[in-house]
Amino acid sequence: MECIEDILICPKTRNRISFDFASSEVRVEKTDISYPIKDGVIDFLPGVDDSISKAYDSRASFYSDYVTSSNIFTKLLNLVFWGVTSQYEFAQEILPFISEDFDRILLDVPVGTGILTLEKYRKLPGARIIAVDYSLGMLMRAKQIYAKNGKKNVTPVRGDVRNLPINDAKVDLCLSMNGFHAFPEKDIALREIRRVLKSKGQFVGCFYIRGKKKFTDFYVQNRLAKGGSFTAPFYDEAETLAKFGEYFNIKSKTNLKSYFHFDMEKK
Ligand SMILES: C[S@@+](CC[C@H](N)C(=O)[O-])C[C@H]1O[C@@H](n2cnc3c(N)ncnc32)[C@H](O)[C@@H]1O
Repeated sequence: MECIEDILICPKTRNRISFDFASSEVRVEKTDISYPIKDGVIDFLPGVDDSISKAYDSRASFYSDYVTSSNIFTKLLNLVFWGVTSQYEFAQEILPFISEDFDRILLDVPVGTGILTLEKYRKLPGARIIAVDYSLGMLMRAKQIYAKNGKKNVTPVRGDVRNLPINDAKVDLCLSMNGFHAFPEKDIALREIRRVLKSKGQFVGCFYIRGKKKFTDFYVQNRLAKGGSFTAPFYDEAETLAKFGEYFNIKSKTNLKSYFHFDMEKK
């Protein structure tokens, strides 16, 4: 399998990078640019502190408890707003699309705190997992979870799905769980994911879509979108199929409550 220096690139110049562990930096070849490695997370967005990164940095400490419904309060929130006992129900709709013996390059964007994929990744010791997120706070949590569970094949990277620090056609499978309702400029994100996927690469994911549950739509519009954790526009199912269908062949799609789940292939 290719080494990480063959996969990651500088998002500004697209040049090759090399690691300088002594000074906790990634250096960009043929330039003066370098990026910090913060506590094991490669930060390709140093200084970025906008409303989206702030929204998720501030949620990082309780995000895992919320999505996994670790207590009666968070379970109630998931039941009321999403109609599920925990968000493992959404994850369970798509993780089986990743084959049990997957042992190639997997891009997880956005990885968040990594809690919903931990069990799956435990079963993929041969995969090289590039875990990208915009929020350093979320990535720090993911890094802790992976360290605690002895997962050494995950590389946490702070990056933007709209300008991925990844070389063209390097990724065999992209997982995007709960990402597209958070991403701004979704069309750019789709094109970037397509760019980094190999020919016929697999694209698996799920996210909130409009028009399935009135109460959830109200909550998203009036609460989540205002707090920065969700970013409009929110597609309905027909819009999703049209937008994603421009770049990917749809192999499988399902709905659970107001979530759209998919398994696609690069066109
Ligand atoms: C709802 S969380 C999903 C995390 C994880 N996949 C899960 O299902 O638990 C959405 C994540 O999207 C990230 N995000 C938002 N905009 C992004 C961008 N432009 N590029 C990469 N990640 C982004 C946020 O930082 C946040 O961690």
